[in-house]
Amino acid sequence: MGLFPRGFLWGTATAAHQVEGGNWNNDWWAWEHDPASLCVEPSGDACDHYHRYPEDLDLLASLGFNAYRFSLEWSRIEPEEGEFSRAALRHYRRMVGACRERGLEPVVTLHHFTTPRWVAARGGWADPATAERFARFAAVAADALADEVRWVCTINEPNIVATMGYLTGLFPPGERDPERRRRAQGVLVEAHRRAAEVVRRAIPEAAVGLTLAMSDYQAAEPAGEAILEALRAEDEDPLLEATAGDGFIGVQSYSRILVGRDGRRGPPPGAEQTLMGWEFYPEALEATVRRAHCETGLPVLVTENGVAVRDDPRRVEYVRRALEGIRRCLADGVPVLGYCYWSALDNFEWALGYGPTFGLIEVDRQSLQRRPRPSARWLGAVARANALP
Ligand code: GCO
Repeated sequence: MGLFPRGFLWGTATAAHQVEGGNWNNDWWAWEHDPASLCVEPSGDACDHYHRYPEDLDLLASLGFNAYRFSLEWSRIEPEEGEFSRAALRHYRRMVGACRERGLEPVVTLHHFTTPRWVAARGGWADPATAERFARFAAVAADALADEVRWVCTINEPNIVATMGYLTGLFPPGERDPERRRRAQGVLVEAHRRAAEVVRRAIPEAAVGLTLAMSDYQAAEPAGEAILEALRAEDEDPLLEATAGDGFIGVQSYSRILVGRDGRRGPPPGAEQTLMGWEFYPEALEATVRRAHCETGLPVLVTENGVAVRDDPRRVEYVRRALEGIRRCLADGVPVLGYCYWSALDNFEWALGYGPTFGLIEVDRQSLQRRPRPSARWLGAVARANALP
């Protein structure tokens, strides 16, 4: 029996656009409907979590979890520049209250990939003024939730927003320009700093941080070592540095990336792959948690870790091995505050649509009916026991 520390957060995670449905006023919705994008299908009603959150939270609490990470949809709260929707703010206040009533600690993300259309039209993350726009939104949101929220993630995976949006062109605005990517990353860092400051001012008791997409980069041959360092220096290090003064760092990790003399390589031949085409490699979590803590000195909250598989027992295997890694981190004194499985529900996996099933809870695409998988009961029992059997 491996016990976890008292107060360890056991959560599941979602993001507004991936589960709410009907988020037509952001850049992603536009992107999903743009024939130039590689999106396989639009998000549509998603899981209708915007309306069904009470039953979803009931389910998560009854399974045994004590935390829930979700995000606010900026385009609902500020549908046009400077116009704030009290109704949308009240909606998220109700959600936070609903979490508390059920014993779920709310972990609130202010930005999870989607940006209001009006922000995109003014230049999106490549425009330095977006840092200030985001901070203004963050201040309004933090004020509205101040009395009930103690965990705030400013920006989800700024490195992915910059890379996928401005370098590989897979996310909006679909650009492919290393210089623009660097610029966007700089604006995202500035946006994080400013938002973190206003949130701390509004909620002095809150732990505020960003969440970072981290890969367990491994050199496949000695000649890969220098390339590996260069990849990290572009993709992770500027964000790790941006966390100075934060209350925690959110680590989101799914797999490893092997690096050879020619750069990134795919999974090794014969390796098991997930529905994302990533190598089934749960040990990546331990490596990235250690590195995040070592580089920043901050306590770590695992804000995302999980796997998209058809075969649910493989999910249990994945999470069990990932959590064994967390146990080893804790035993070595690495402060890990909690673990949020990605994702609570099968949901809209961005350009890949509804194909990859990350959910502990299966969602029928026609009826939107929820059905917890055996892995949900397994992880819920781990959460309740605060121990890994
Ligand atoms: C991310 C996002 C999630 C994804 C998940 C699986 O980390 O990319 O936070 O929105 O759905 O990671 O790709």
